Amino acid sequence: MQPVYLDFNATTPVAPEVLDAMLPFLREEFGNPSSAHMLGQRAHLAVDTARSQVAALIGASADEIVFTSGGTEASNMAIRGAATTRRDRPAVVTTNIEHPATEACCSLLERNGHRIRRVAAKADGRVDLAAMKDAISADTALVTIIHAQNEIGTLQPVGDTARHAHSAGALVHADAAQSVGKMPVRVNELGVDLLSIAGHKLYAPKGIGALYVRRGVRLPPLLVGAGQERGNRAGTENVAYIVGLGEACRLAAAALDRAPQHMASLARHLFAELERAIPGIVLVGHPTERLPNTLNVLFPGVSGRHLLAVCPGVLASNGSACHADSEEPSAILLALGISREKALGTVRLSLGRASTPEDADAAAAHLAAAWRALRQTTPQRVAI
Ligand SMILES: Cc1ncc(COP(=O)(O)O)c(C=O)c1O
Repeated sequence: MQPVYLDFNATTPVAPEVLDAMLPFLREEFGNPSSAHMLGQRAHLAVDTARSQVAALIGASADEIVFTSGGTEASNMAIRGAATTRRDRPAVVTTNIEHPATEACCSLLERNGHRIRRVAAKADGRVDLAAMKDAISADTALVTIIHAQNEIGTLQPVGDTARHAHSAGALVHADAAQSVGKMPVRVNELGVDLLSIAGHKLYAPKGIGALYVRRGVRLPPLLVGAGQERGNRAGTENVAYIVGLGEACRLAAAALDRAPQHMASLARHLFAELERAIPGIVLVGHPTERLPNTLNVLFPGVSGRHLLAVCPGVLASNGSACHADSEEPSAILLALGISREKALGTVRLSLGRASTPEDADAAAAHLAAAWRALRQTTPQRVAI
């Protein structure tokens, strides 16, 4: 029997339609978009079409999309670029539950003399809006905030933060790597100036992404060279992957009227099944302000890593890092004030568009059986 894949926040498979759209650009349509001849112009047109498809998914204009190698590069371009364009404003405001792609940029800026204010998330995984507002002032060049937290799925108050940041004259970047494609994300509703997209979270391949840059906002490029992407990102375009991202965005847009509800109802069902089988199981993060597909659950009395190790029927993640002879819990869960011991017991279960009720039932049964087995066999060793 195939294991149930519940790790769609880590990555998604490439959708068959995406692969079909890409293949001609790896075969006969191999032109360089900068070439003036017919083959080059067809590649150019394909890149333009993909740009419009990405823009359409987030309610932007095509000329506001810059293709990148993924979410990490998009966030590097946004954060490092925006922070350094305003020499009169040395501060950057962020949260203490960012993805490393953001946190590492902020730490780098900090080492270079910028002031970084990390606003703490509350126990429910949302940052406190009042604390966010307090942190933003006339010295703030940029506010960078994760839209949907990758480990716990909690949604942050991006819209309210952006309104306040703009009134203080700061730019706003949202890391929407996890939310784009899973739920409606519209740049004008969020009110952001910059927004990161990661292709492999929405059924495009790994190694492609995009940055939304609001018209009028100028960022220094990370890569300079022959001036592709209107000078924003030099290097011959990765045409096939760009086409794949465009098609993935088209598919995501077409599924938005049903996929979020489908995943949310499966996630509710999965958690209800787990609750029935495992007394004391806890859902981490905000109960309603969350991604529709993500459950971060705290299995009582066991290590989440051990649980997954003895549960080959479910492919999922837990945020802990394994060192030589110890296990370090996820820094995100610790930031929410969850104790070390409890944080070690969490597992992230993330569903996909094509997940089924049978997947949820099977996963709940496998996880419950593994939890019972762990509790019975080695309660001292695994109990935490
Ligand atoms: C919230 C978030 N931001 C950024 C990234 C980085 O994206 P990429 O893997 O495309 O560089 C990820 C991927 O794990 C993510 O979950």
